[in-house]
Amino acid sequence: MALFPVYVFDAYGTLFDVHSAVGRFRDRIGPHADRMSDLWRSKQLEYTWVRTLMGAHRDFRALTAESLDQAAARSGVELSASLRAELLAAYEVLSAFPDVVPTLAALKQAGAKTAILSNGTPQMLEAATRTAGIADLLDACLSIESIGRYKTVPEVYALVTDRFGVSPDAVSFQSSNRWDVAGGVKFGFRSVWINRTGQPDEYPDLQPSAIVATLDGLLANDV
Ligand code: LAC
Repeated sequence: MALFPVYVFDAYGTLFDVHSAVGRFRDRIGPHADRMSDLWRSKQLEYTWVRTLMGAHRDFRALTAESLDQAAARSGVELSASLRAELLAAYEVLSAFPDVVPTLAALKQAGAKTAILSNGTPQMLEAATRTAGIADLLDACLSIESIGRYKTVPEVYALVTDRFGVSPDAVSFQSSNRWDVAGGVKFGFRSVWINRTGQPDEYPDLQPSAIVATLDGLLANDV
């Protein structure tokens, strides 16, 4: 493993399993639960891009609620007010993937700085990192709320270089979102695609520096 001074991680999908919220209520949601969960995520992201393009920011918690309503309507799921509230509460305390704690601990042990860079609000990230028990394994938790624009604007990635006072090539950026990896490559980070679900490649001119299936792949000799 080539040790970088700073390791930065996307949050949703990379550290935290965005489908774990629906997973906890699958029986009450019914047969369209997985379709609703996929749509919830894709609409949530679409809203971030559209709002950043038109300069009409709303925070990630608001967009998470709006996208849940849209996903339910599109997938024919009637959410009661209580189930809707429970799903949104579950989104605040998503399950972390099992490789998160060991990987962050190994990087800290090796002497690297670690951080999150996320679209999530500071409050959402605080709750999620506390639930996952990783707050002490992170040197910084950087939210796009400080600039009010979402990934993939370059100013978001610059939050990392500003915070740590390093150039982009000192940073290893990890994301399970291929579009976010493209943003990291464009900014100049060493960018690792955590391809947890075997997705096909995209953004051919913005190739990942490395591709691994799980976070602990980062610790392999050839990465
Ligand atoms: C984030 C979204 C992209 O955490 O998953 O920034």
